[in-house]
Amino acid sequence: MIEVQNLLKKFGSLRAVDEISFNVKKGEIFGLLGPNGAGKTTTVGMLTSEVKPSSGKATVNDINVKENPIKVKKEIGVIPQHRSLDRKLSGRENIRVMANAYGVNNKHKRINNVLELVGLEDRADDNIRHYSGGMLQRLLIARALVHDPTIIFLDEPTMGLDPQARRAIWDKVTDLNEHDKTISLTTHYMEEADALCDRVAIMNEGEIVERGSPKELKKSDAAENVIKLELDGVNDKVLKEISEITGVTKTEVKDEKDLIKLLVYSENGDEVSPRILSSVNSSDLKINSLDIREPTLEDVFVNLTGERLKNG
Ligand SMILES: Nc1ncnc2c1ncn2[C@@H]1O[C@H](COP(=O)(O)OP(=O)(O)OP(=O)(O)O)[C@@H](O)[C@H]1O
Ligand SMILES: [Mg+2]
Repeated sequence: MIEVQNLLKKFGSLRAVDEISFNVKKGEIFGLLGPNGAGKTTTVGMLTSEVKPSSGKATVNDINVKENPIKVKKEIGVIPQHRSLDRKLSGRENIRVMANAYGVNNKHKRINNVLELVGLEDRADDNIRHYSGGMLQRLLIARALVHDPTIIFLDEPTMGLDPQARRAIWDKVTDLNEHDKTISLTTHYMEEADALCDRVAIMNEGEIVERGSPKELKKSDAAENVIKLELDGVNDKVLKEISEITGVTKTEVKDEKDLIKLLVYSENGDEVSPRILSSVNSSDLKINSLDIREPTLEDVFVNLTGERLKNG
């Protein structure tokens, strides 16, 4: 469906997208993840013929985006990161503008269909100045669907939305996917990618630093368990012993009133935790609790890049 080979975009000397390659298969939800400035929007821009690639090749439904930018547009629906709606118009009118641009057949019916699809039929004729953030985002989805594209690009679709509105967008994305739409989604919310995507590519500074299904990534070398212990105290000897256990990569002590919280990062929590226990037991310390947290996509990202993403 989408094939990307050595795609490069330079802005002056900045390699915003640095010769990346990936593909998106038919029927899949593919996630492009990464922090601010990673190059996600620029990548999407090249695939949707908004941004001209410096070099490399990209095809969408076998159409070369460089050679046939207009033809590509007919195949895709785009929900851009920066909302591009006309604030003087109603929701319905905003969709009509797009339907006209695409020469959609049976326009009236089609517009009603997409409004209904995103649950905006009751508010369709209100001026969009009176829409909430979640409603605007749903309107963008409706607008992107009016010409019945096979591939949908969503760039940060839930940015700035509250948890409930975010959930509504997630449901919509899943729904579209179940109705045979291939979806390319960019986000810096790792939790969103985990919930929605079949496969992801993690971008940082223009490059893809890791790729795979969320499940695979959480099992990769970059993923670590976090073992959380609550102790009545801690001493240097125990800390040293624990940090020397094979598989332990990092320890972190947090003081909380009478309790000490000890976080142990390790590649294999199940093997490491009995050894931690025996180490603590051979000292005078008492364990209140021990808990192993499975790695999240966020942990994988932090490990790969040394950076933390914004909270999602
Ligand atoms: N038109 C432009 N001219 C110059 N530099 C640009 C332009 N567009 C993007 N950039 C730069 O390219 C880099 C990648 O930007 P891009 O918008 O693709 O990142 P992003 O991953 O979408 O980030 P965000 O999460 O903030 O949306 C950034 O350093 C940005 O400043
Ligand atoms: Mg962006």
